[in-house]
Amino acid sequence: MTDFLQLAHDRYSCRAFSERPVEREKIDALLEAAVAAPTAVDRQPWHAWVVETPEAVARLAACTRFHFDARVIVMLGADPARSWVRKYDGRAFADVDASIAGTHLMLAAHDLGLGTTWVGHFDVNAVREAFPETEGYDLIALFPLGYPAEGDAPSPKHLERLPVSELVDWV
Ligand SMILES: Cc1cc2nc3c(=O)[nH]c(=O)nc-3n(C[C@H](O)[C@H](O)[C@H](O)COP(=O)(O)O)c2cc1C
Repeated sequence: MTDFLQLAHDRYSCRAFSERPVEREKIDALLEAAVAAPTAVDRQPWHAWVVETPEAVARLAACTRFHFDARVIVMLGADPARSWVRKYDGRAFADVDASIAGTHLMLAAHDLGLGTTWVGHFDVNAVREAFPETEGYDLIALFPLGYPAEGDAPSPKHLERLPVSELVDWV
């Protein structure tokens, strides 16, 4: 287990995977990390689909060019019907909740020696058609999953963070 700050720095978007299959226990562990995520009023308004059969993976891969030939892809949805809604402005938080769960999943993947990327670029309507079980969910992200290919390294963007001073004000 790495130190958390180190984990936060080291996690990167992995876009090339080795042939090595991902063990079921590791997928279970990253799902456990997602379930541990906080959600507004503990509503837990999200759902994940572990897309793992070659047929289903091919069906999903046809909906995005950002599949990176992964053998497993986790699809993440937010359920607006179960969302907490802030009464002052009517803002629903299901997408925020799902995103926190997704972030846990991503960090856990790296901690387990796996790689993934948060993929937002996919044809939502095509996914809905290919996976009718996602009906009613806002589709938040896809996480292609695998062991990083040998020699895989973070893209230059990984280090292009704005300085804290530009992102944060102390008031
Ligand atoms: C909401 C969101 C959507 C993203 N969508 C994609 C995507 O569709 N394809 C992709 O290759 N990377 C995608 N990324 C990854 C970002 O490009 C990446 O996180 C960013 O460039 C920083 O690099 P790093 O993750 O290696 O630190 C997405 C990230 C986030 C948070």
